[in-house]
Amino acid sequence: MKIALIGGSSFLAEKILEQYSLNDQDEITIYTRTKKSWMFYPSQEGDHLRKPKYRIKTFDAYEDQVHSWVYEWSRNDVIINTMAAGVQPKQEVSSQGILEINAFFAIKLIEGLFEHKFNGKLFTFGSYFEIGDTDNEELLSEQDFVFSNNKLPNTYCISKKILTQFIHHKHQSSPFDFEHLHLILTNIYGKGENENRLFPYIVQSVKDKKDLKFSSGLQQRQFTHIADIAKLVIKLASSTSHYHGIYNITSDKTNSVKEVILMMLQQLEEKGYVLPKYEFGEVNRRDQSMNFLGVSSKKAQNELNWVPEISIEEGLKEYYENN
Ligand SMILES: NC(=O)c1ccc[n+]([C@@H]2O[C@H](COP(=O)([O-])OP(=O)(O)OC[C@H]3O[C@@H](n4cnc5c(N)ncnc54)[C@H](OP(=O)(O)O)[C@@H]3O)[C@@H](O)[C@H]2O)c1
Repeated sequence: MKIALIGGSSFLAEKILEQYSLNDQDEITIYTRTKKSWMFYPSQEGDHLRKPKYRIKTFDAYEDQVHSWVYEWSRNDVIINTMAAGVQPKQEVSSQGILEINAFFAIKLIEGLFEHKFNGKLFTFGSYFEIGDTDNEELLSEQDFVFSNNKLPNTYCISKKILTQFIHHKHQSSPFDFEHLHLILTNIYGKGENENRLFPYIVQSVKDKKDLKFSSGLQQRQFTHIADIAKLVIKLASSTSHYHGIYNITSDKTNSVKEVILMMLQQLEEKGYVLPKYEFGEVNRRDQSMNFLGVSSKKAQNELNWVPEISIEEGLKEYYENN
């Protein structure tokens, strides 16, 4: 199988590659702006270390035009676009840059693949942050998600929504020669995520005995472990069945952010760490206006036969175990 991974230095790309079992026929090319050390180190596969067998090509979507690359990408069996801007906290990206990467690049990619008669599988990713500001505690189906019409608090949410709506209408209007899966992700987490995100922040502060300051934590969220998503992408990429469409990828469980923080603090205390002082309500977070974010996993369960395996209680342990 020939696979192109665009945005190859992302958290999701790293985890897909970590779990992907290569055989001699597989050829993976990583298209990346930044070269990360994990791309060059062998990874553990069963009892042995597997040498990386990827080709790495430098690709910067601000400088390179989609049309110069799309022919090459269209020669693959699978294209996985994990590239995105404005996902991680404390990364300054202009609104123009966010729209360009998250919406326009992906739209041009889809159109270019049509032109080049791509007939493999394309994976793109949406975000349940596209729901925006709401208190409505309802798990949205894919259809309700696409047409949700709440205020969107930032350009990241707007950019992702533009892409999802484009994909919805494109799927409705054009016969596709290729399979296109647009997977709507919730809060994805796991060891190796950006150090400024919530769970690494908690563990590091506890280890450094630094006081912790949180937002009110009343926002309800769905947490999905990155390994569950990576496994699903690999399963679908290698499947001989045909899948096409927009799918919410999560479990139906929601937790308040405060509940999850307290869960992690309790686990750390049970592990023998002395907890520093912590308080809720001091910090303003960029997602605080979105009181309830929740999508229904029914379609993924029924059609993709997928449910996540890792509960949040289990998933949190990897941040501090064996460290
Ligand atoms: N993380 C979450 O909680 C979450 C939740 C819902 C949906 N999603 C979606 O899931 C997908 C993967 O997310 P992630 O957390 O794995 O993303 P991530 O770790 O933030 O990675 C984003 C990737 O995009 C690349 N990129 C940004 N601008 C670029 C440019 N101009 N040219 C080339 N590459 C560029 C980055 O490269 P550099 O390393 O060079 O910056 C990085 O590899 C995204 O579509 C995201 O919107 C994520």
